[in-house]
Amino acid sequence: MATAIILKPSERFVETPFIRDIVNRALSYLKAGFPINLAGPAGCGKTTLAFHIAWKLGKPVTLIVGNDEVKSSNLIGGELGYSRRLIYDRFISSVLKVEESAYKVWLDERLLAACKYGYTLIYDEFTRVKPEVNNVLLPIFEDKMIFSLPASSGGGYIRVHPDFRAILTSNPEEYAGVYRAQDALLDRLVTIHLNGFDEETEVRITMAKASVPYEDAKRIVGIVRRLRETGLCEYTPTVRSCIMIAKLMKQCGADLNSKKFREICHDVLAPKIGKGKIGKVSIDTLLEEVLNKEVSVN
Ligand SMILES: Nc1ncnc2c1ncn2[C@@H]1O[C@H](COP(=O)(O)OP(=O)(O)OP(=O)(O)O)[C@@H](O)[C@H]1O
Ligand SMILES: [Mg+2]
Repeated sequence: MATAIILKPSERFVETPFIRDIVNRALSYLKAGFPINLAGPAGCGKTTLAFHIAWKLGKPVTLIVGNDEVKSSNLIGGELGYSRRLIYDRFISSVLKVEESAYKVWLDERLLAACKYGYTLIYDEFTRVKPEVNNVLLPIFEDKMIFSLPASSGGGYIRVHPDFRAILTSNPEEYAGVYRAQDALLDRLVTIHLNGFDEETEVRITMAKASVPYEDAKRIVGIVRRLRETGLCEYTPTVRSCIMIAKLMKQCGADLNSKKFREICHDVLAPKIGKGKIGKVSIDTLLEEVLNKEVSVN
């Protein structure tokens, strides 16, 4: 049986005007009855936002995390349970009659449970699931009235609960392990494209997640944003790099202008830079140039 989660507000969730605008847009589309798709590159905050928006809806949540192994039985359910019946018959005291029967039972999975009981479904990374598996979503998102159950569940139809809402997230198609979603599914979703946080939000997230002062977070975010803007990164560093640098700096007791801080920045950021992109300049030289614009050396 699918388990529903009751969400609590996170103290460390950062809500700047930038985030509030996305949350309000998403809530208004969901309240109008449309499923939403938070789409964007790694680290742009899709999963965190999905949980926050689901919490705002105030209903229990069922969560599906997409990957290549997910089958339709993981979404709807299947004959996953087993029931056993044992009868001891001692009607005549000298005779013991034992009768045993066992049969499989249908268990609802998370999508079906959300549709039946009006929960909020978070379907994280839905494009990592084979597109044909996601076909089951089409009739649910289309008219939200009728959902036909597979014959193995006894068949028949259920009415999708009017409170059912769905929040999906997806990475860009060019990412490894991501399928192209079918047009019919995208056509039924309102897609909100997230293209990275504004600077203030990134600073606030770094402060909240690493518990560092504003000035430290601002410099670290400044370094990461400058590096991004060079266009020389193979893997664009995200707010995760900012949080990582801030946590390591704190852990090592390093200050912004120390050699240790530079070492941490090199270790975290050098692997993001594409060797093929920087030409004759070395990765270390590029990083030093970026660092010198934000911090000095003691
Ligand atoms: N509004 C926010 N408040 C606090 N922390 C946040 C917020 N948004 C994102 N973060 C933090 O930023 C990091 C990246 O966010 P998240 O995991 O939601 O991104 P994502 O887009 O789902 O990434 P991926 O595609 O890799 O799954 C996480 O450490 C997360 O806790
Ligand atoms: Mg995510």
